Amino acid sequence: MRGQLFGDGLRVPDRRFLAAREQPDGHRQHLEPALPEPSLDFGGVRAGAELDDQLASHASINTALNDDEFLQWALPRAGLRWAGFRKPRRQVLRRLRGRVEELGLDGLDAYGSYLEANPDEWSHFVSLTPVTISRFYRDRAVFEALEGVVLPALRPLRAWSAACASGEEAYTLALIAPELEILATDIHEPVLRRARAAVYPESSFAELPDRLRARMRDGTYRERVEIRRHDLREEPPDGPFDLILCRNSAFTYFADDVQSRVLERLLVVLRPGGALVVGLHERLPLDPWPGARAVYRRPKG
Ligand SMILES: C[S@@+](CC[C@H](N)C(=O)[O-])C[C@H]1O[C@@H](n2cnc3c(N)ncnc32)[C@H](O)[C@@H]1O
Repeated sequence: MRGQLFGDGLRVPDRRFLAAREQPDGHRQHLEPALPEPSLDFGGVRAGAELDDQLASHASINTALNDDEFLQWALPRAGLRWAGFRKPRRQVLRRLRGRVEELGLDGLDAYGSYLEANPDEWSHFVSLTPVTISRFYRDRAVFEALEGVVLPALRPLRAWSAACASGEEAYTLALIAPELEILATDIHEPVLRRARAAVYPESSFAELPDRLRARMRDGTYRERVEIRRHDLREEPPDGPFDLILCRNSAFTYFADDVQSRVLERLLVVLRPGGALVVGLHERLPLDPWPGARAVYRRPKG
């Protein structure tokens, strides 16, 4: 496959998608997307086939790329998956338009050409994509299972909240398990600053049970959370960890081949018999933890 290497080795295919737009009559003959084949079946998460269907349905459009088509073209080339961004696309598009304005370009089509001509811009493109929403005790069923089923079996000492956003998930862990030392990481500096400041709007606590909220009073739970920058696509921090949470990030937003590499790296630092927690709608090709939703177990042997 022709293409260029981007960042940590992600292969960025050529921009065949837009080539058709550049024909003299201004009409696109085809929208052939050069998408990466899914390399791992994550159950409900099958970006490739879905994208093929969508792009095929655009095959006879003769106008400039619309916003969704731009994202469908650009995201896979940056190792990300359109299906994950469908819901939050407005906020991503808002940031991209800001960048288009900053560069003095005439719309997203022109930004696509700019990306092709300036491969370094891809990392800037990726930096505009993070979806950083989080809250304390997000997905009650998951934290109830951690507290009731998983943590008692593990007696864990070290946990890693990978892609922690502003720290709500890591601090929730600290509140439910006073014996836990927690590493919280994210790629995005602005959310890490918020995690360190640990100042949240009241709405962040809406799902946190009162008994856990009461534990926030003395503030010591914060001392057990170390906050650090880390890119999930790079080597993991030093393990081992008894418990890893990687929720609503890599396994929703990354392309399938990138997901596979992230999963391999997480498993390297997860202790045998340890627990890996993902988002409620994310699926992994691992053994589920009995009696706990969205929790998988690394085999002991
Ligand atoms: C929706 S938040 C998830 C927060 C929390 N885990 C939860 O479920 O509530 C997704 C986070 O993934 C982070 N992220 C995106 N790409 C990343 C990468 N390559 N490495 C580490 N974190 C990343 C974003 O900055 C964002 O804070």
